[in-house]
Amino acid sequence: MATTATTITITGAGGQIGYALLFRIAAGDMLGPDRPVRLRLLEIPQGMRAAEGAALELQDCAFALLHSVEVTDSAESAFDGASIALLVGARPRGPGMERADLLAANAGIFGPQGAALNAVAADDVRIVAVGNPANTNALIARASAPDIPADRFTALTRLDHNRAVGQLAEALDARPDDIHGVAIWGNHSASQFPDVSHATVAGKPVVDALAERLGGHEQALVWLDDLFIPRVAKRGAEIIEVRGSSSVASAANAAIEHVRDEQSGTAWTSAAVVSRGEYGVPEGLVCSFPVTSDGSGYRVVEGLDLDARSRARFDASVAELEAERTAVRELGLL
Ligand code: NAD
Ligand code: LMR
Repeated sequence: MATTATTITITGAGGQIGYALLFRIAAGDMLGPDRPVRLRLLEIPQGMRAAEGAALELQDCAFALLHSVEVTDSAESAFDGASIALLVGARPRGPGMERADLLAANAGIFGPQGAALNAVAADDVRIVAVGNPANTNALIARASAPDIPADRFTALTRLDHNRAVGQLAEALDARPDDIHGVAIWGNHSASQFPDVSHATVAGKPVVDALAERLGGHEQALVWLDDLFIPRVAKRGAEIIEVRGSSSVASAANAAIEHVRDEQSGTAWTSAAVVSRGEYGVPEGLVCSFPVTSDGSGYRVVEGLDLDARSRARFDASVAELEAERTAVRELGLL
């Protein structure tokens, strides 16, 4: 086993997703069985007791890979030497609350955290924003961290990707791991475009497999437009409606998979990365694309064809990201 522990900072660690994340990270689900971890739990004063309680429970698990746990309300202490930062701490959306309301509530959190990362994180730091609005929170953090390369900042759309795979697996009576090539384009919001046009199930195009089940290509397209896309895009709201609060275990699972795959390499998945102009997305927006990783960070899968309807859906979500960036600029936070 490697002796040097990797420092992982989790913000909002006393919250729901934090509680679902910490024990799995300490058990090795994120970095594997050979990499000890040093956990730094960042909270605001109101959340400190919950984070301290989680730290006590982590100790009581006696995880072999857990080097140490520190709880703090200082961003500079929490990010000092961090190689991985999971930015979870934010105000979750409650029933009836719009994402736009979240911009003002959350933008102030991510600027100072970006600045702290810039000042004290490890040279190899990689950052994923989970707290909503995740894409724009990542954009704000990045804007405050000029010394950290842009490709180290990502936002979580793996949950949307997994939701899309889950819906297809059910509709096609297939195993999730037989489904490849699903793409989430755009924002982690209801405007996202979950795209199956390049996806396969057990090697067969998903659209053909759907057509076989549903009685023709026209029926397959109707199912995709009327059921699949809105179900995936609005799944976050559905979970809030049913549970009374936003997704927790599935979000933590997706965050673990996002970091794991970024670090160890993966074939095609989805993640929001800082645009370098791929597919005409304005540079600097943190936008979800199909991505791969060779273990040195996510790279956009380029050269895919998007038909006019797909392009229109993707453009609408990119327009929302631009509007969020404009709103944050108008608040003076960029
Ligand atoms: P929660 O309210 O249970 O926990 C949030 C925690 O963050 C609280 O303990 C709070 O004290 C803490 N916090 C607030 N401001 C902080 C700051 N400045 N520094 C450090 N900690 C701070 O919420 P949750 O259910 O854990 O959800 C967290 C966020 O994740 C929400 O914004 C939610 O909308 C988002 N989310 C994102 C996805 C995704 O796929 N991207 C999925 C689900 C939830
Ligand atoms: C989710 O996708 O479950 C969450 O991002 C929803 C939300 O707004 O918290």
